Amino acid sequence: MGTILIAGNWKSNKTILEAKQWLQEWNIQLSNNPIIQWKNVTVVLCVPFTLLYPLKKEIDRLKLPIELGAQDVSPYPDGAYTGEVSARQIKEFASWVIIGHSERRNYFGETDEILSQKVTQAKSVGLSILYCVPDDVTVVPVGVDAVAYEPVWAIGTGKSDTPQNAGQVIQSIKAKTHTPRVIYGGSVTSENVATFIAQPAVDGVLPGGASMDPVKFANLIKNLCNPK
Ligand code: PGA
Repeated sequence: MGTILIAGNWKSNKTILEAKQWLQEWNIQLSNNPIIQWKNVTVVLCVPFTLLYPLKKEIDRLKLPIELGAQDVSPYPDGAYTGEVSARQIKEFASWVIIGHSERRNYFGETDEILSQKVTQAKSVGLSILYCVPDDVTVVPVGVDAVAYEPVWAIGTGKSDTPQNAGQVIQSIKAKTHTPRVIYGGSVTSENVATFIAQPAVDGVLPGGASMDPVKFANLIKNLCNPK
């Protein structure tokens, strides 16, 4: 078992000013609660492209133990692909990228084929990949660094999966894909986070709503009362 992976997904939210305010508050939370600095926890913040550069500068300046992630990546390399952001461009600021989030699959029609092209691009520049799947039968491309099991009906609904079922599905994903790290996402809160982490197969969580507020997000990490 490596560190517990806590990846916050801000989705399409926050201006630069709001993002900097989040970090300042997070910094206060961190100094008040040194437990957040557990070496057992890796905190990744997955933010819109527009926030990568300003947040990287601020994280470096404040020396915060946070890694940055993008929420998407172009399936193509640099070149004539208007509107896309390439893996090489992301790598300047971020070390992680989410690929295959259900909102990308559902609202933007991303297929397994496109997603595997994205994985190829991300891997070619050394980005760590957090690959999202809604179940244990969806294809997981070889070589991703972590998988997030996120049942669609649990995302943003306040209705999380049961820890037992999440544990079983994650165990099954591990057996089928040999991915070293598999985490759970879908209405994770500071109240329920410990019940997921208590499942032996669960290596972390992917909170969306609960990562938007720095105090809630800090509480969520504090409530991981069963560090593995
Ligand atoms: P949620 O989002 O925590 O708000 O349900 C999770 C996600 O979409 O990754």
